[in-house]
Amino acid sequence: MVQVRRALLEMNNIEAVLLKQRSDEASAELQDTIYAMIIGFGSGISLLFLSYVAVNREFALRKKAEEAVLDYVKQLGNAMESTLQAVARVVEAHDPYTAGHELRVGQISADIAREMGWSEEKCNSLQLIGLVHDIGKMSIPSEILSKPGKLSAMEFELVKTHAEQGYQILKNVEFPLSIAEIIREHHERMDGSGYPQGLKGEKILIESAYLL
Ligand SMILES: [Fe+2]
Repeated sequence: MVQVRRALLEMNNIEAVLLKQRSDEASAELQDTIYAMIIGFGSGISLLFLSYVAVNREFALRKKAEEAVLDYVKQLGNAMESTLQAVARVVEAHDPYTAGHELRVGQISADIAREMGWSEEKCNSLQLIGLVHDIGKMSIPSEILSKPGKLSAMEFELVKTHAEQGYQILKNVEFPLSIAEIIREHHERMDGSGYPQGLKGEKILIESAYLL
C-alpha cells in the first residue's frame, strides 16, 4: 500500500514537472513572438523614417533646382529689359525729336493690355516692345528725322520704311511675343490707311494695334 502511494506521488510529481516544463516552453515561445513583433515593428518604423528622410531630401533638392531655374529666368528677363532699354536710348539719340516717345508708347500699350485683361507677363513684354518699336529708324538718316519743318513726299516715304526695317532687324530675335511682326505692323490702321502693308481691321495684330 505504501509502495502504491509512493508510486502515485511520484507520478504526480512527474506530471507537475511536465506541466511546468510545458508552461515554461509556452512562456518562452510567447516571449520570442513578442520580441519578434517588437523587432519587426522597430524595423518598420525605421524604414518609414528612412523613407520620410529620403522623400524630404528629394523634395528639398527639387525645390532648390526650381528656385535656381526661376532665378536664372529672372536674370535673363532683367538682361533682356536692360538691353532693350539701352537700344531705346540709342534710337532716341538718333532721333532726338521723339525723346521719351518709346517709353511712353510702351507704358500706354501695357496699360491698355492690362485693361483688356492680359496677363502681367504679356503686358510687361508689350511694354518692352514699346521701348524698341521704332528701332527701324536707325536705318533712316538722322538729318531727315531731325529735319525742321515738313518732310518732302520722298523723305516721308523713306521714314515709312522704318516699320519694315524694324522687322528685318528683329526677325531672328526670340521673345515671348512676336516682336518683329508686331513692330512691322505698328503703323497699320484699322481702316487700311496705314503702312507698310495697308492691313485692315482684324488682319492687324492686336499687339500692334495697342502700340499707338
Ligand atoms: Fe514708328
